[in-house]
Amino acid sequence: MKRLNAEAILKGLTTKSFGRSILCLEKTGSTNDVVLKLAEEGAPEGMVVLAETQTQGRGRQGRSWSSAAGKSLSFSILLRPKLKPDELSEITLAAAVAVAKTLEEYRFHPRIKWPNDLLLKGKKVCGILTELGPKKDKIASVVLGVGININHGAGDFPGDLKGIATSLYRVSGRKIDRVRFFQSVLLHLEETYGWVSQRRFPKVLAEWRKRSETLGRQVKVTQGHRFFYGQVVDVDEQGALLVRTDAGTVERVLSGDVQLLKIN
Ligand code: BTN
Repeated sequence: MKRLNAEAILKGLTTKSFGRSILCLEKTGSTNDVVLKLAEEGAPEGMVVLAETQTQGRGRQGRSWSSAAGKSLSFSILLRPKLKPDELSEITLAAAVAVAKTLEEYRFHPRIKWPNDLLLKGKKVCGILTELGPKKDKIASVVLGVGININHGAGDFPGDLKGIATSLYRVSGRKIDRVRFFQSVLLHLEETYGWVSQRRFPKVLAEWRKRSETLGRQVKVTQGHRFFYGQVVDVDEQGALLVRTDAGTVERVLSGDVQLLKIN
């Protein structure tokens, strides 16, 4: 297996700060945890930690995240945004747009399932987990964790993921150079995070809407033990989903799980 290494990634990287400081690990629990720790120690914004194997990879809603060594991209970036905690979802949506733009450069046609799952042909190819870290000089740190299935074959997904996950290789039949792909992801992440920092979230939202698989769809929304059905009517200026319930009210959904119901 050809391991990703910092030297190869830095060569040809055109970002200003994203990935300029980078740690490539063979194995760790969760790259989000490593970045959270580095944030406490004062690491700079844009610092990246990448791992071939995560023994405790985390997903949204308490789920686990599995990555295949040598075939995935599993990494986390440290951000120090001047945003209020309720504006965090802006970063989440911006990250989904960034990965989508990279996929499009490679001629894929990604769709975004709210808030930030990337789908190819209806199956998940990338997941993003944003977590809040410690504060430094009153500015909170945010860890943006991204997992992308790149060169997985059919046998590389555990049984329960087989029907719902895919990889770039599965969709295109082409093996992708992970280093070049990663350099492009970092560049786009820096760009769309820049829009958020410059208070240009409407631009993120416009790009997100163009690729949304969720707008207009019938969905089941689950929040803890509560769930309801409805139709997604919009996403608001903070990235929350607006769902007209079957009872006729409009619910604002900032967190939770959204299941797309089949189109008849
Ligand atoms: C999801 O779709 O539920 C989010 C998945 C996020 C996975 C990435 S892999 C790198 C980083 N480290 C983690 O433990 N999780 C994120």
